[in-house]
Amino acid sequence: MMLDLAFIGFGNVARRFVGMMDEKARLLKSRYGFACRTVAICTRRHGAVINPGGLDAARAVEIVESGGSLDMLSGERTSVLAPCGLRAVDGLKKAAPSALEQGRLVVIETTVLDVRNGEPATGHVRAALESGAHVVTANKAPVAFAYGELRGLATRQNRMFLFEGAVMDGIPVFNLWRETLPAITVTGFRGVVNSTTNHVLDRMEAGASFFEALAEMQGAGIAEADPSLDVDGWDAAAKAAALINVLMNGNVTPLSIARTGIAGIDTARVRAVRARGRRLRLVARGERRESVIVGSVAPIELPGDDLLAGLEGTRNGLIIDTDLLGSVAVLQLDSGLTQTAYALLTDLLHLHGALCGGRPRALAAED
Ligand SMILES: NC(=O)c1ccc[n+]([C@@H]2O[C@H](COP(=O)([O-])OP(=O)(O)OC[C@H]3O[C@@H](n4cnc5c(N)ncnc54)[C@H](OP(=O)(O)O)[C@@H]3O)[C@@H](O)[C@H]2O)c1
Repeated sequence: MMLDLAFIGFGNVARRFVGMMDEKARLLKSRYGFACRTVAICTRRHGAVINPGGLDAARAVEIVESGGSLDMLSGERTSVLAPCGLRAVDGLKKAAPSALEQGRLVVIETTVLDVRNGEPATGHVRAALESGAHVVTANKAPVAFAYGELRGLATRQNRMFLFEGAVMDGIPVFNLWRETLPAITVTGFRGVVNSTTNHVLDRMEAGASFFEALAEMQGAGIAEADPSLDVDGWDAAAKAAALINVLMNGNVTPLSIARTGIAGIDTARVRAVRARGRRLRLVARGERRESVIVGSVAPIELPGDDLLAGLEGTRNGLIIDTDLLGSVAVLQLDSGLTQTAYALLTDLLHLHGALCGGRPRALAAED
């Protein structure tokens, strides 16, 4: 089955994903019988286009990376849309009704996160599911703000809503739980899930000031565009909310996570903790207290031999407490755009496998 992809957001992650799909096209075809084409791309400042017969996605990457407008992708059946995710979904309903009806259209949502309300991403996901599209996203917002609603909508529409990239990039967290831990009850979790703050704390241990360390992360393109999202704990709170909603069947938003960031911490305190053989880490938690699930993000002094204390630099880790397996840990030792783009690829393959009547199944062991 050929899947039609519509991108809402065509930034760093989406463009790396296009490159990865190209690099892996042969393997995906021979191993999984997977094929897809791009039918729509919507950005905020680089225009938006749709062509139900297929667009040249590699050319779109070149245009956006050189600062051009997607209007340059002109061709037969290519229409220019308003640069707005919701208008793009309307455009899909008019231009690609059969792909929507047949359940072949997948919206890839990778716009930015507004941590106060989860928009515009949550609205994009809602509109896409209502229109009959499946949704794959690397955005934390929809699952952190509206998981229950969107899961219910997807079920009613007989469509899939997948979001592996929302926490720890492509490292399987949601897939691990959904695919390999049947009948498990998650009783809690704790994790270091924000790379910027972990690196900043490491550099402060080595003597750097908070601002020097943060500037390094911005220079490396790892800190969010607005660094307060990282240092004030918003990014970790959004991830904690996503984990609570999915793994613990909770109903929280980032606003209901008790949140303390690392902005007020000085180098002397970080070094004093280290001198005592302990380490300061920004820890995201979810725990069940009687019938209530409580989420928090805060800098915690951890014993030096704690698994989370040993995570250096941009490494992330999550310890999931379960009723039948005890505690299970997932570590992310490498992070970056490729890892996030891979999350989109795994979700898409999972979706393809489900549409083809099962799990993402290898057709052949060899490429
Ligand atoms: N970068 C990472 O390593 C990473 C890791 C994990 C998760 N994520 C998540 O993945 C998502 C994408 O990240 P990114 O690094 O690719 O971001 P990015 O480079 O800033 O790209 C965001 C894209 O969204 C578009 N956009 C913003 N608002 C829009 C709207 N209302 N309608 C249509 N398009 C809109 C932007 O268009 P313009 O460029 O035209 O403004 C841009 O194409 C974010 O939610 C991020 O939190 C990223």
